[in-house]
Amino acid sequence: MILIFFILFLAGSFVASEKFKFDNYTLYKILPKDSSDFVILQELYEIDRRFDFWDDPIPTAEYLIPPHDKIDLENILIQNNVAFIPTIQNIQEAIDRQTVKKYTRNNVRSMQWDAYYELEEIYAWIDDLAKTYPDIVTTEVAGTSYEGREIKGLKISHGPGRRIVFIESGIHAREWITPATVCYITAQLLTSNDPETRAAARDFDWYIFPVTNPDGYVWTHTDFRLWRKNRKPVGTEFGIDLNRNWNSNWLVKGSSTNPSSNNYAGLGPFSEPETRTLSTYITAIGNKIDIYLSMHSSGQLLLVPFGNTTQPLANYYDVVNIGRRAMGALSVRYGTEYTTGNVAEAIYHATGSSADWVKEFLDVPLVYIYELRDRGTFGHLLPPDQILPTSEETMDSIIDLIHQAKRFGYMNSGNGLKFSFLTPLLLFVVKSVV
Ligand SMILES: *[C@@H]1O[C@H](CO)[C@@H](O)[C@H](O)[C@H]1NC(C)=O
Ligand SMILES: *[C@@H]1O[C@H](CO)[C@@H](O)[C@H](O)[C@H]1NC(C)=O
Ligand SMILES: [Zn+2]
Repeated sequence: MILIFFILFLAGSFVASEKFKFDNYTLYKILPKDSSDFVILQELYEIDRRFDFWDDPIPTAEYLIPPHDKIDLENILIQNNVAFIPTIQNIQEAIDRQTVKKYTRNNVRSMQWDAYYELEEIYAWIDDLAKTYPDIVTTEVAGTSYEGREIKGLKISHGPGRRIVFIESGIHAREWITPATVCYITAQLLTSNDPETRAAARDFDWYIFPVTNPDGYVWTHTDFRLWRKNRKPVGTEFGIDLNRNWNSNWLVKGSSTNPSSNNYAGLGPFSEPETRTLSTYITAIGNKIDIYLSMHSSGQLLLVPFGNTTQPLANYYDVVNIGRRAMGALSVRYGTEYTTGNVAEAIYHATGSSADWVKEFLDVPLVYIYELRDRGTFGHLLPPDQILPTSEETMDSIIDLIHQAKRFGYMNSGNGLKFSFLTPLLLFVVKSVV
């Protein structure tokens, strides 16, 4: 298995409340050829905490160091015969190329796919969608952040009795391509003329939350572009990795107890307001969810539960087969290749994720983590001209995912109930009559 890691060097000290500049920070693509290379990188992570591994869920550490330490890393890699390529010499230049636009209020079509948007722009657009499509769209608040922001999203529904597709994105703040793609998907569900897209929009209730870590997302725009966690203070440090904080094998693998780590799992499962409120919201509709998608970047992977073991648990074979076919559909438009597998076999063990929790506690039939574009070049700094193609191919894959799920007998066409939920529901009715 070839793994590609990103390593970022952080230099200088970071003064809060002014935008941090990443001048002369370099991004490396590491090409481990076998498991012994992987062990070296693992040691590097544990011993030398200056490096920030970008690929999730590889263990990460982020420390501020001067750029001359680039030489250290290159020497360590050369001595150990691990191949590497610097892919971005100056991170700040890549950040500066990431255009951020304003959304024109009351004009839902002015949300476009050639730039990124700040939180308040996305939220204003959601409010305008509800005004523009009052019979179909309602805004939804799925929870509250540490700093008191709403986790705002929307529900698209063409009538009662439908099963749910749930899309959660932006839980890692710096993964900007995920809210952008999810907004595109939302727009397609409302405006596309493609018959399959229209059918998908009508057949399900869609619950879509583009930014589930609003504080972190705001921070990436105002202060620190490469922030990943939420913004809760922990001693002298900040932030909990919200995708290690869910109550499923919490802190078992790929998580840290060190608040300075990018994978810090928090003081306990659901210690964070974001995960606590969001999980409560999801639980209330949990038995109606057929498909749960957790959107991340990068690496071009489609991951399935669980993250604690490579064992094929639950309906693993169905989920992987459906996923592989959908990734075939994803590749048609631009040739983008994805790898499908469970979290542990595809990259590295990681637990406490939303996807594992949804699978374990809500028993949702089809749960996937998307790691969107790209693979080894720009990572979290995907240029704006890749927003539209990334969004289009991801939409193609979701439509095919629904198609394949039906072929595998996971749902009736139309607004049918999934069989496995029918039995407990009927039993409950009988009991309450008695
Ligand atoms: C970045 O590196 C270049 C070339 O070594 C140097 O001229 C420049 O001053 C550096 N910029 C910063 C902000 O350190
Ligand atoms: C992995 O997690 C799942 C869900 O909690 C559990 O059923 C399974 O026993 C775990 N496997 C291992 C090897 O820990
Ligand atoms: Zn992520």
